[in-house]
Amino acid sequence: MIIIMGVSGSGKTTLGKNISKLTGWPFYDADDFHSKKNKQKMSSGIPLTDSDREFWLNSISKKIATWSEKGETILACSSLREKYRKKFMRETAIKWFVLEGSYNDLKDRLINRKNHFFNSKLLKSQIEVFEPPSYGLYLKLKQSLKSKSETIISEIKKNKESLIGIVGLGVMGRGIALNLAEKGVRVSVYNRKSIEEKKVVDDFLKSNIHYKNIIGFDKIKNFVESIETPRKIWLMIKSGEPVDKLIDEIKPYLEPKDIIIDSGNSNYLDTQKREKELKKINIDFVGCGISGGEYGARNGASIMFGGAKKAYSKIEFVLNMLSVNTKNNKPSQAYIGTDGSGHFVKMVHNSIEYVEMQLIAEIYSIVKSFMNNDEISKLLNKWNKGSQSSYLLDISRQIFQKRDKKKYLIDLIVDKSDNKGTGIWSSITALKHGEPNTMISSAINARFISNMRSIRNSLAKNNTSLKKTNIIDLEILEKSYEFSRLINHIQGFKMIKKVSKSKGWECDLSEIARVWTQGCIIRSQLMENLSLIFTKSKNLLENPLIINKLKKSEKSLSNLISYAAKNKIPIDSFSSAYNFWLSICTDNSTANLIQAQRNFFGVHGYLRKDKGSKEIFKTNWLNK
Ligand code: 6PG
Repeated sequence: MIIIMGVSGSGKTTLGKNISKLTGWPFYDADDFHSKKNKQKMSSGIPLTDSDREFWLNSISKKIATWSEKGETILACSSLREKYRKKFMRETAIKWFVLEGSYNDLKDRLINRKNHFFNSKLLKSQIEVFEPPSYGLYLKLKQSLKSKSETIISEIKKNKESLIGIVGLGVMGRGIALNLAEKGVRVSVYNRKSIEEKKVVDDFLKSNIHYKNIIGFDKIKNFVESIETPRKIWLMIKSGEPVDKLIDEIKPYLEPKDIIIDSGNSNYLDTQKREKELKKINIDFVGCGISGGEYGARNGASIMFGGAKKAYSKIEFVLNMLSVNTKNNKPSQAYIGTDGSGHFVKMVHNSIEYVEMQLIAEIYSIVKSFMNNDEISKLLNKWNKGSQSSYLLDISRQIFQKRDKKKYLIDLIVDKSDNKGTGIWSSITALKHGEPNTMISSAINARFISNMRSIRNSLAKNNTSLKKTNIIDLEILEKSYEFSRLINHIQGFKMIKKVSKSKGWECDLSEIARVWTQGCIIRSQLMENLSLIFTKSKNLLENPLIINKLKKSEKSLSNLISYAAKNKIPIDSFSSAYNFWLSICTDNSTANLIQAQRNFFGVHGYLRKDKGSKEIFKTNWLNK
């Protein structure tokens, strides 16, 4: 899709028509789609407002999606403001050509223009509104029509290369490649040709033969050369060593200003190092967290961009294509901050995910002694229709219904859970930054303990069984769930606030919560609420609404914990939530004893309540 843009009178239509004549590419004039009302307004010299333009822009944006499917198409459209252009870019990949000229040149052209509704008096207001894009090819108004046409045609023809390169044809890489190809983007894909992955590229191309805009490679040099410069190369490979190896392999073929986007679950500290290293050779390395799994990659994910702003502006339209819309009609992607911030925020996303999953698992451990799988599914379904609704609750209710022949599949799955590291890194990060993220530690430890299967089996044999107490009230359970989810989100966002401040990222919590309302694994009604709450207050522990909710359901959680203890059911994440709450609500804590002990054996100083806040004391405790 080609858009020739510029203020009225810059010659967009003449140029577009001429290119169409020379190439046969269809031409459209955006002015033809203005309503009668808009045209009348403009011809009487009244500038259009954003809301006047709204319907016009929306209908053009829909048309762009259909036109671009049919091949190269030219549109002449003023596209004065970035937000208008963003609307178009959401639909397809666009080549922008900007016509620029001085006020005087334009004025003369407008005055001499015949048969057009635009009143030349409006030129000043158009120039005021115009926000020159940081991308696209600029053409001088004074250049001849022939020369301008030739420049555009040769630019388009030379760009038969791919717009994006994707490395790694695993579940996510395949999904993203298809998602983009479907939207008309030309994509190059690469997968290494190892013994196990010998036919990955061929198989992928064969099974998607109807996409003519995907080209596959198993040689990295050819792959890199097939992508237009500055290149945008997306890594969809395993985090850790494979990323460094790939960077080493690809580096010799890259050119300054190329962009590498790492969308694996990489450790943000690695991303920071890689970004710094590649900056030295003028390559932008971006850490872009993606959540949503296989479905998200194919149909719209939640995307957390971390890296240079200039790299963001170059790939923002691709991020838009890979997103879904959140409630306010914005795409579920955001610029988080520089270097490792995108991967850091994705890591915290995953730690919230671990806890959300663990809380549902602990509910399962409570109810499974008195409910069958169907009943559990129904209970989760009921909750999912109310204020606790979430993607994870929804998939869990479906899991309890899945059968394998005559049995429930859940009963056949071995009770050992894995992890790929993000939860551990979150715990480490929290500890390193002095952030009490107790719930993520409880959730990751529950996974570790699940792996002690043989010892669990043997100790369970000698476990004295307790007499079952009464069944727990399901309302108590739901309230406890609500309480603990709140603490989980409080801890997660608190950690983002603290770490991002110390790293200079100053992440926008409301924007992060917004991006997490769609496409990602932790999307929920609670997240919708938080994205609004964060627009007003940044500290959930100072928010009266949240505190009231916690106070109201505190008693339920205390009942649940004593029920679980009496019935010997481990619910460490629920307990962590409760203990965190008790601790932060404690006025006179017992840390005075800790300080005294530290001073006793290690001569570490302490402060006194009856003295100044900077005066350090040490005591010889053995002195009589
Ligand atoms: C997502 C998921 C996804 C995946 C991780 C965590 O947001 O789409 O978080 O990234 O589930 O691999 O999985 P582990 O449980 O294996 O650590």
